[in-house]
Amino acid sequence: MSEQKKFYITTPIYYPSGNPHIGHCYTTLACDVVARLKRMQGMDVMFLTGTDEHGQKIEDKAKEAGVTPQKYVDDIVANFKKLWELLGISYDRYIRTTDPYHVESVQNIFKELYDRGYIYKGEYTGKYCKPCESFWTESQLVDGKCPDCGRECVDASEEAYFFKLSQFGPKLEKLLTDEELNFLEPKSRVNEMINNFIKPGLQDLCVSRTSFTWGVPVTFDPGHVVYVWIDALSNYITALGYGNSKYNDYDKYWPADIHVMAKEIIRFHTLIWPAMLMALDLPLPKKVIGHGWITFGGGKMSKSSGNVIDPFVLCDRYGVDALRYHLLREMPFGADAPYTNEMMFNRINSDLANDLGNLVSRTVAMVFKYFDGKLPTDREAEALDEELLSMFDALPADVIKDFETLHIADGLEKIFKCIARANKYIDETAPWVLAKDESKKTRLATVLYNLLDCVRRASILLSPVMPHICPKIFEQIGATAENTTLDAASVRGALAADVEVKKGEVLFPRIDIEKELKELEALNPKKEEKGKDLEPLKEPCVFDDFLKLDIRAGKVLECENVPKSDKLLKFKLDDGFGERQILSGIAKYYKPEDLIGKTVAMIVNFPPRKMMGYESNGMILSARAEDGGYRVVELNEDVKPGADIS
Ligand code: MSP
Repeated sequence: MSEQKKFYITTPIYYPSGNPHIGHCYTTLACDVVARLKRMQGMDVMFLTGTDEHGQKIEDKAKEAGVTPQKYVDDIVANFKKLWELLGISYDRYIRTTDPYHVESVQNIFKELYDRGYIYKGEYTGKYCKPCESFWTESQLVDGKCPDCGRECVDASEEAYFFKLSQFGPKLEKLLTDEELNFLEPKSRVNEMINNFIKPGLQDLCVSRTSFTWGVPVTFDPGHVVYVWIDALSNYITALGYGNSKYNDYDKYWPADIHVMAKEIIRFHTLIWPAMLMALDLPLPKKVIGHGWITFGGGKMSKSSGNVIDPFVLCDRYGVDALRYHLLREMPFGADAPYTNEMMFNRINSDLANDLGNLVSRTVAMVFKYFDGKLPTDREAEALDEELLSMFDALPADVIKDFETLHIADGLEKIFKCIARANKYIDETAPWVLAKDESKKTRLATVLYNLLDCVRRASILLSPVMPHICPKIFEQIGATAENTTLDAASVRGALAADVEVKKGEVLFPRIDIEKELKELEALNPKKEEKGKDLEPLKEPCVFDDFLKLDIRAGKVLECENVPKSDKLLKFKLDDGFGERQILSGIAKYYKPEDLIGKTVAMIVNFPPRKMMGYESNGMILSARAEDGGYRVVELNEDVKPGADIS
């Protein structure tokens, strides 16, 4: 017997600084689909997820809540696990960075890197933003404030250990550009890593802190705790037993087949993580896939958005598989996808209720109506059948490839094209007309059999995405364990010739969109709570103060990232009088090319300032978004460059 193939897939380990939201669901669901598919292919799967529980933010949040950090994370982790159970996430292992075995491994890894000369002691000085747990250099600050969150920074310096990331540039570039390896997907991200980070020169990475205590202690230097990335990234191997005796799966599953995450942490997984593994002389993961964000009102959805898009509420009201399907169907590979409740309702009504639900219920109802629920075995094929059946023949290979490569929305689109074709086949063959003619009974049975068999094949492929509903469909159409394996999706006519169908519940009830939107709105946070997350209103000021500011419209002519800064964008703007250069700390929230051509609001009479070696002549106005990031204030297209704003 040949050895069973291994497959190891991971989600990021999430910060339990707040409860899980729909954004976390997407990555976890996408991994779940791949893990389920791989199990259907007969592989021995390890699907890992977990939580990243250390750091100052958690320490502060716990203090705010008046509990210990451990109690704080325990409560939130319980909610993560509850949500994954509700969503049917089939993870095999859940790692918490506070698990003692992980702590032990991280200490071993840190020591090993130190002993090998890849970690050294130095002094960290800079401007420190407490909420973001980040040190910044003076030039990285935007208007003297944290370029990430806009809050005050304080002068700080501390003794710290550093990892020699700077010496891995050439090796990392080779890894990222190796065509055969195809290490990072989508490909578009490769250049971003090289141009923004490797080319400008990688900086050594600060890997310990003395300013907080909620972390893994450095064994050989009391007072230091391991800082963020060494603790977090190593989870992918410690969960298998690397550096500890809790598990013994490292040799079996490492290297990982796929690490999945959203785009903002690709950098850590394609630069720091491989460098750490190289330093430890360990094999590298086979692939990193970075998907886009689920956005909400233009920004990355985050814990702070108080709107009712709570996955618990959505699952309860509309069904787990409907939510699973919607999220997986909406996210195009590598791009962002907006989430609104209305979009979800439309998707459920059109794809699930109308197309799939109707196909199943109409077909089953006709088998009852014309044959008392059990088909006769004689057949009479017609040319028309071939078009439908051959579409389903081609489907499995395509869908499997799409799912394996995380192009899940594409795979789903293909399945639903076939489902639409099957619905059209009902209209073309008009079973209700055939039923009126006794001599057409055999043809009628053939049509209904083809339909049932197509439902079977589509549902097999849908089952990694909708694992709760598909078994119900199988039951209704009289499918069995033998004819619902993944291989059976490629087989025509695997249903028993005398198949017997069963009446069942309505699979996807239609949603009354207006009514539901109103009901969800009513669940929104109460009026009096509104504004609690906003900056407090400022003291009144006089109009003359306002008039001192020269605020103008500027059209973005050019926009590019500033080398060595992942925060700053450099703009060239038409200000009506000529060209003006402004730097703005919003690189995290935009692709530079997306801003070109926009007309924005800017203050033009601040004195020039140097930032990262470039002169900035003004300030582009931005507004804080749900996720704490910033969006530029955009003006109407008919506002000319240079127009004054008052
Ligand atoms: N703890 C780190 C990851 C360490 S991995 C070794 C972290 N945690 S996080 O809680 O911020 O989770 C980030 C990840 O959650 C994203 O990379 C993505 O997988 C998922 N998502 C969170 N919000 C998301 C969206 N709005 N949209 C899509 N996925 C997002 O970073």
